[in-house]
Amino acid sequence: MSSRAASQATPEHLMQTVWKFMQPLALDAAIQNHVFDALDAGPKTLEEVSQATGASVRGLAAIMNLLVGVNFLTKTADGRYALTPDSSAFLVSSKPGYHGGFVHYIVSGLIANFLSLAEVVRTGKPIESHLDRPEAAAFFEELVGNIMPVAYPGAKAVAEELGVSRATQPLNVLDIGAGSGVWGIALAQASPQVRVTAVDLPGVLPVTRKIAKQFGVGDQFTCVGKDIFQDDLGSGYSVATLGHILHMASPDKNRFLLKNIFRALVPGGTLVIGEFIVNEDRKGPVEPLAFAVNMLVHTEHGNAYTLGEMRSWLQEAGFVNVRTLAAPALSPLIIADKPRS
Ligand SMILES: C[S@@+](CC[C@H](N)C(=O)[O-])C[C@H]1O[C@@H](n2cnc3c(N)ncnc32)[C@H](O)[C@@H]1O
Repeated sequence: MSSRAASQATPEHLMQTVWKFMQPLALDAAIQNHVFDALDAGPKTLEEVSQATGASVRGLAAIMNLLVGVNFLTKTADGRYALTPDSSAFLVSSKPGYHGGFVHYIVSGLIANFLSLAEVVRTGKPIESHLDRPEAAAFFEELVGNIMPVAYPGAKAVAEELGVSRATQPLNVLDIGAGSGVWGIALAQASPQVRVTAVDLPGVLPVTRKIAKQFGVGDQFTCVGKDIFQDDLGSGYSVATLGHILHMASPDKNRFLLKNIFRALVPGGTLVIGEFIVNEDRKGPVEPLAFAVNMLVHTEHGNAYTLGEMRSWLQEAGFVNVRTLAAPALSPLIIADKPRS
């Protein structure tokens, strides 16, 4: 570095980065203390929020001012706090897009694991290596409902893209690693012709059944317990969905899985993949890069993959027409077809 560049360096970026750890914690504290719910009825002073929630004025002042600073709340000149469009849509518990469970899962279930990151980096071994094993059911049972709102808008975009509502005969959908059933649910909601086979660890399927029923499509679902990295996935499906699965596993396991999915599809069938996609040079975007660190901490071989890597596995399995679909998600969705003949 030249002496001029060195003299221009300031610790500002470093300081900003270090203090960012507070933001999800303040969000979660506001969620747990029902701050966003209290403000849903309209702007309020700190004292009014304190009365509505039972939380201390001092505590609320600290976190709510920070949340103003990071644009999850606004503050008027007369000292009243209000929701922003984002907090109104995603942090009010009565709204369909509520992400409060997801934020709480990150804060209460995940952050503590990263306190061992230096040791994980030293050894190259995860703190828990259960994520790609059948005994992961208890972990996933809790996770899948919380992450459902993250995938649901993208899943609805898939139903639209595939023209599911125009189906005139039964459309068999294979939802692989279904979890909440979010992908199958969005497709089933688009047409009564959709028949979803949701495959997951047996321990997770009661959650899948419960959520599909809550969304009014329980009778369009059949739930099947399988190990997707070992078992045959059946046949005769027009659409397969693979939501947030490939990052858990090694390239070899993913190649095996994609070949299995190819066999399960009818000629002309379509596979949709939801994933965190890193750029080819692995210089960004930041969130998928952070997700790769998450997989370092929690899996033996998981990673956030590039589109090029996933395209090559798909092509090796026989898929054609590999493309992306812009969707309301951190990364675009990936779509690929099984040739018609
Ligand atoms: C990150 S969640 C994704 C859930 C859902 N597809 C989504 O996009 O929200 C991963 C899912 O894969 C399932 N899973 C993990 N390992 C599995 C295995 N070996 N066999 C079957 N399902 C598995 C988990 O139970 C969980 O439901």
